[in-house]
Amino acid sequence: MTERAEKPFLYVVVCAAGIASGVPELIRAAQARDWAVGVIATPVAMGGFFDAGAVEARTGRPVRSAWRSPADPRPFPPPDAVVVAPATFNTLNKWAAGLADTLAVGTLCEAAGLGVPIAVLPCVADALAAHPAYRESLTRLRGMGVRFGEPFTGEPGPDGGHPRFAWERALDLLDAP
Ligand SMILES: Cc1cc2nc3c(=O)[nH]c(=O)nc-3n(C[C@H](O)[C@H](O)[C@H](O)COP(=O)(O)O)c2cc1C
Repeated sequence: MTERAEKPFLYVVVCAAGIASGVPELIRAAQARDWAVGVIATPVAMGGFFDAGAVEARTGRPVRSAWRSPADPRPFPPPDAVVVAPATFNTLNKWAAGLADTLAVGTLCEAAGLGVPIAVLPCVADALAAHPAYRESLTRLRGMGVRFGEPFTGEPGPDGGHPRFAWERALDLLDAP
């Protein structure tokens, strides 16, 4: 049987961008706003981009990255909302194209089709963001109702410092109508 959470359930999809190590900040902010959280990471992101053990300790649930076996129960309740943060060039293009070759992208394709609210914080360098396929992907995803935060390149500013990644912006986007 599918578990129903008492609190609204938020899927946090984590992609393989360097900034992903900060995802506990997003989870803490979501929990403070009374979301229960389950994390789905891409297979590349599982390769050392964030501390999966710390995330599991904080959410009280395993980090998912691969599909379950058909006989296994669903590990998470269905989502009330989804956040993709950080969202990579690769995952955004695959999602827009409907190439569901990871659990993360498959989940995003399905959630969009079900009308679940989805907020995305891209972390994509300017050189990649200039690719015409990326611009078309963003247009297509926006047309599907996906909500986007401001562009973030992950690159240092003129002073050599890294601008702050506004994790909680994703939660604000979910609150927006
Ligand atoms: C240290 C490191 C940092 C990276 N940061 C980014 C990034 O900020 N944005 C991005 O789109 N790709 C970044 N990449 C490249 C992605 O990891 C790569 O495209 C990968 O295939 C993305 O897989 P995913 O979308 O399934 O997570 C980075 C790679 C490395 C090794």
